[in-house]
Formats: sequence, structure tokens, C-alpha cells
Amino acid sequence: MHVLVTGGAGYIGSHTVLALLEAGHSVHVVDNLSNASAESLHRVEKLTGKKVPLDVVDLLDRPRLHEVIAGGSFDAVIHFAALKAVGESVREPLLYYRNNITGTINLCEEMALAGVKAIVFSSSATVYDPSNPMPLQEEATLGAVNPYGRTKLMMEMMLQDLQVSDPDWRVWLLRYFNPIGAHESGMIGEDPAGEPNNLVPYIAQVATGRRQELRVFGSDYPTPDGTGVRDYIHVVDLAIGHVMALERIAHEAGGVQICNLGTGRGYSVLEVLAAFEAACGKKIPYAMHPRRPGDAAVCYADPAYAEKVLGWRATRDLTQMCEDTWRWQSANPFGYADAPV
Ligand SMILES: NC(=O)c1ccc[n+]([C@@H]2O[C@H](COP(=O)([O-])OP(=O)(O)OC[C@H]3O[C@@H](n4cnc5c(N)ncnc54)[C@H](O)[C@@H]3O)[C@@H](O)[C@H]2O)c1
Repeated sequence: MHVLVTGGAGYIGSHTVLALLEAGHSVHVVDNLSNASAESLHRVEKLTGKKVPLDVVDLLDRPRLHEVIAGGSFDAVIHFAALKAVGESVREPLLYYRNNITGTINLCEEMALAGVKAIVFSSSATVYDPSNPMPLQEEATLGAVNPYGRTKLMMEMMLQDLQVSDPDWRVWLLRYFNPIGAHESGMIGEDPAGEPNNLVPYIAQVATGRRQELRVFGSDYPTPDGTGVRDYIHVVDLAIGHVMALERIAHEAGGVQICNLGTGRGYSVLEVLAAFEAACGKKIPYAMHPRRPGDAAVCYADPAYAEKVLGWRATRDLTQMCEDTWRWQSANPFGYADAPV
């Protein structure tokens, strides 16, 4: 298939572009590079020996987006492009609503004009109400608790309404849990701008000496060691899930599918820390801090539906997630700013 990948220069996008090329598909990326470097795609080109066309276009720039989509002959779109930092979304909600929602409206309108009515959408476990019992099934109560999560929930609803209005649309909503890890080559990985918002990139930067110590928020949760528990999923497993959803889209009639992509197993902060220390062979200094408002004690997926409907299941374990992160981070302590490889 010929696939337009929005946000394809980013963390999950670049791994998915690589997986698509390895599966024999052709890709075209649009990304405004607001949170990414074109170097990620240069490295995908080195890994695959294939060209990755990139248009540096903002989804809010309707005329440029029109040029890309109208002339693209795409079979489907994988839509990663979004802002994703929860804390920033609380401080700047309108930025998030405009970028994520208006960007998605522009994208869908241009897709409809071009007759491209197949989309795989990056959703998130943040769409679920945190008071649900675990594990989270797709039917669990929805209720995002921050502006970022609410943009994801609204985009899901928009896509479902669109499909009702025009039954030719084929929509896959993939709800990711906590993506970590990197491609096994160590050539591409997560490269957060500024201070990392997520646990594993933070630990990795402490391990390289770029940051002093890890701050662990909450040591009195009702979990075995008192720290928060999350469902970490290897980014390559996630990328493969996208390829499988795309290949399903090729053969199906209109409809909406909603799928969790997680492992079904939760790990605490201290378990992840221990696994990372084993992977990098160093002690990671850390300090306990009070809980952060809004953080749930435990969150993990029921991935059974993804296995049933897609035949997909995560196969990479926490050890591999940490080893692959460390291979990437130790070879690229400053991320893509360390280019060239
Ligand atoms: N990483 C996670 O923990 C996680 C979890 C659940 C869902 N998601 C979702 O997955 C998707 C990809 O996440 P990621 O971790 O790879 O993030 P990322 O920031 O690395 O990738 C997003 C990409 O979109 C681009 N972008 C943002 N706004 C754009 C716009 N208006 N026009 C064009 N490009 C734009 C950015 O430059 C970036 O390359 C996002 O939609 C995110 O909300 C991520």
C-alpha cells in the first residue's frame, strides 16, 4: 500500500515508517518537525536502503496539506501528528485543541476530497476514566482528565461521527499504553526536546550523565512497592501493530475498530529502574517525591481484543525494552543532535 504518515519523523512514527518499509509498503511523511528531526528518517533510509519522502508541512497549513494529499495517490493514512505533553496541555490548552483537533479536521477533509477514506489513528490509554477497574478493556468508561487526553477523545469521536456520516470510511483507533524502547539497531529512538516527561527517557538520560537523578513521584500508592504501575510496550511491537491494522484496512468494508495496544502486564517504577540498571550496568540515583496530582496508581491494558481482531500481540519484554533503549541512548547521548552516525 502507499501510505501517508503524519508525524512520521517522531518517535513512534519513525519506527512505524521503518516497519512499513520492511513489510513492503511505500510511505510519504508529513511532519512540521515541531518535535522531531529529519535525521530520524535519514537513519530509516540507511537501515532500509529505501527513500523516505518527507514534506515539512504543518497540518494547520491547509493549502500545503492539500497539495500533498491531492497529488499523493494514497491508499491510507496513519495519523501520528499531535502534541502530546500532558503538563504542557494543562498550561496551554488552546494550543493543544488547535493543533490536535484542527489539524485532524484539516487532514480528514483533505482525505475526503482526495477519496482516501482509510485511517489508522494514534489514540491513547489517557481516553479512559482513571477510576475504571484494571485491566482496561475497550468498553471501559471513557473520561480523559487533562486537555491532551480530551483532544484524543474528541478526535476519536470525530472520526466515529465521520464514519457514521459516510460508511465508506475505514477507521482504526489504536489506544497505546506506554511506548518505550528503540529499534534494535540503536540508530533510531526517542529524542525528547528538553526535560523528558516520561520515565524511561528520563532514566536513560540519568544513565548517560545528562541528568543528575531520577525523581520518583509517589511512594505510597497501593502497589507492591508503593510506586506507580504502568503497562510499558516496546515501540517496535507498537509499530508492527500499525502495519497489521493497515493491512486489515486494505481488505475490509467501512467501519470503526477500537483496539488497545499494550502488553497486559504492569511494572512499577522501581521494577523498571532495576531492569534499566541491569541493562546499562550502572546504578541510577533516584529520590522519592510526593505524588503528582492526576496520576493513577495502576494502569494496564487488556490486550485480548487486539489479539482476536488483529492477531497482534506484544512479544518484546521489559529486559529487551531497556536494553534497546540503552543501546540507542548510549550511542546517541544527545539524541539526533549527535548526527551523523
Ligand atoms: N509516546 C507516548 O507515550 C504516546 C502514548 C499514547 C499515544 N501517543 C500518540 O502517538 C502519536 C505519536 O507520538 P510520539 O510519541 O511519536 O510523539 P512525537 O512528538 O515524537 O511525534 C509526533 C510528531 O508529530 C509532529 N507534529 C505535531 N504537530 C504537528 C502538526 N500540526 N503538523 C505536522 N506535524 C506535527 C511532531 O513534529 C512529531 O514529529 C501522538 O499522536 C501521541 O499523542 C503517544
